[in-house]
Amino acid sequence: MDHHNESSDHNRAQFSEMTEGTAEDWQAIAGEFLPYASKVADRVLEHLKLLDGDFGGFPIDRLSHCLQTATRAHRDGRDEQYVVMALLHDIGDTLGSFNHPDVAAAIIKPFVSEENHWICQNHGVFQGYYYFHYLGMDRNVRDQFKDHKYYDACAEFCEKYDQAAFDADYESEPLEFFEPMVRRVMARPLQSLYAAAIDDAPAAA
Ligand SMILES: [Fe+2]
Ligand SMILES: [Fe+2]
Repeated sequence: MDHHNESSDHNRAQFSEMTEGTAEDWQAIAGEFLPYASKVADRVLEHLKLLDGDFGGFPIDRLSHCLQTATRAHRDGRDEQYVVMALLHDIGDTLGSFNHPDVAAAIIKPFVSEENHWICQNHGVFQGYYYFHYLGMDRNVRDQFKDHKYYDACAEFCEKYDQAAFDADYESEPLEFFEPMVRRVMARPLQSLYAAAIDDAPAAA
């Protein structure tokens, strides 16, 4: 066992059930939390790369679609938080094959506005306007939200950026272009169940 492992063992909680936990245990855990949480943007970016080369029958692969959606939003003057939402909106295709918008929405939820979260969460329903009728479904299923305050914003996201981002000839920015944006947006949660503990941590983030 090398010195590094001895050091991490020493800093681990000693309980076998949380009912046995002590303040010292939780200081050890809390001390590990922020360094790990601060790397969430890197883990998300690594996961996004899993979409590379995955076409699923579409004209371009899923990573290219994400880059094109984000590039179109960026070039249309959208702010950084919106662009990051656009970049990540389909990241859930890997683990959420039957509910991919939920996965992306959960990942970005602590870091974005209620409106941007809603757009991400519901983009699947609104995107259906462009193809559900070809699959025997109701293209107007989005109408269930027609009185919602974010209906227009979500419809606009799909019309201008998401449904438009399958052009094999479009020159998108590379992932590296967006990486600093993802790191900035995900640097600190706007809301989180753990916000109080995070705010108490000295020299956090
Ligand atoms: Fe999607
Ligand atoms: Fe999409």
